[in-house]
Amino acid sequence: MSKIVVIGSLNMDLIAIAPRLPVAGETLIGSQYLSEPGGKGANQAYAAAKLGGDVAMLGRIGTDDHGIRIRTNLEAVGCNVTALRAIDGTSGVAMIFVAASGENSIVVIPGANERYLPTDLAADGHALTGTQYVLLQLETPIQTVIAAAREARRHQAKVILDPAPAPLTLPPELLRSVDILTPNEAEATQLVNGAPTELTPDQARGVSKHLHSMGAKTVIIKLGAKGCLLNEGETMTLIPAPQVNVVDTTGAGDVFNAAFAVASSEGASLIEACRFAVRAAALSVTRLGAQPSVPTRAALNAMAR
Ligand code: ATP
Ligand code: RIB
Repeated sequence: MSKIVVIGSLNMDLIAIAPRLPVAGETLIGSQYLSEPGGKGANQAYAAAKLGGDVAMLGRIGTDDHGIRIRTNLEAVGCNVTALRAIDGTSGVAMIFVAASGENSIVVIPGANERYLPTDLAADGHALTGTQYVLLQLETPIQTVIAAAREARRHQAKVILDPAPAPLTLPPELLRSVDILTPNEAEATQLVNGAPTELTPDQARGVSKHLHSMGAKTVIIKLGAKGCLLNEGETMTLIPAPQVNVVDTTGAGDVFNAAFAVASSEGASLIEACRFAVRAAALSVTRLGAQPSVPTRAALNAMAR
């Protein structure tokens, strides 16, 4: 029984650091290459466990070497992986370019993630007994995400959905099952207007009202360097991000969700949990990679002083 259960994707991130993102047809000489466990689900589980949360991960890895590393990395921070299964074939892989500006572009080959089906979820559902928060994203089949939200509600757990990668639409049934929806600017605007755009805080208020009216009870829009906007229905609060030296934003949204869930599971209010999350995510963008950039609780506490 874990207070936080993450249901979602696990990838191996193959990362190339380049002066800028290549344009179509272009070859660039980069400066560094690394391969590190990633995937939106695994990043959230890893970060939540490293920040001190009581966390379990559900999903599928392949029987390849990548799968072994992905599992070992989660175990190393104390994440419960007893219900994480390896299936024949390859694990998910993400090819990531990171520019000197810290921006990235990513192509994901889902591998085992796309073979995590609602029937598997039904078999794994016992892991949700007694859980408080279930963290979902959109790198596994949408029917599995819907089943996961339904199963979470059956166990009276709160559902936190990171609608990433940006979907064109979300099934109304899923939106209605979500307690806390956490899009970034592109995901929020894509869901509301069908086109990904950046937002001023005022525009974010309008977009978050729209998402709230679509069924999500609480909406938190992640606004990059501007922090986040918390819409609790009656009240909206803009929580600014600390200014930091940006190296790589990959996984910042995952660290945000993980930290938010950890603080919430420790009894923090929505605003307090958002404040904790923006600090954790800000620290993460100062380092390369998704999981390697997750800060320790001690580093976060030191930042708060
Ligand atoms: P990801 O890169 O994982 O896809 P995202 O696009 O989902 O992230 P962002 O809004 O870019 O989400 O970032 C998530 C959170 O990380 C922000 O809400 C903010 O708290 C923090 N963050 C991102 N970029 C910066 C930055 N340049 N400075 C400080 N904090 C940042
Ligand atoms: O959110 C960042 C993650 O997106 C990366 O770790 C990559 O695996 C992709 O899933």
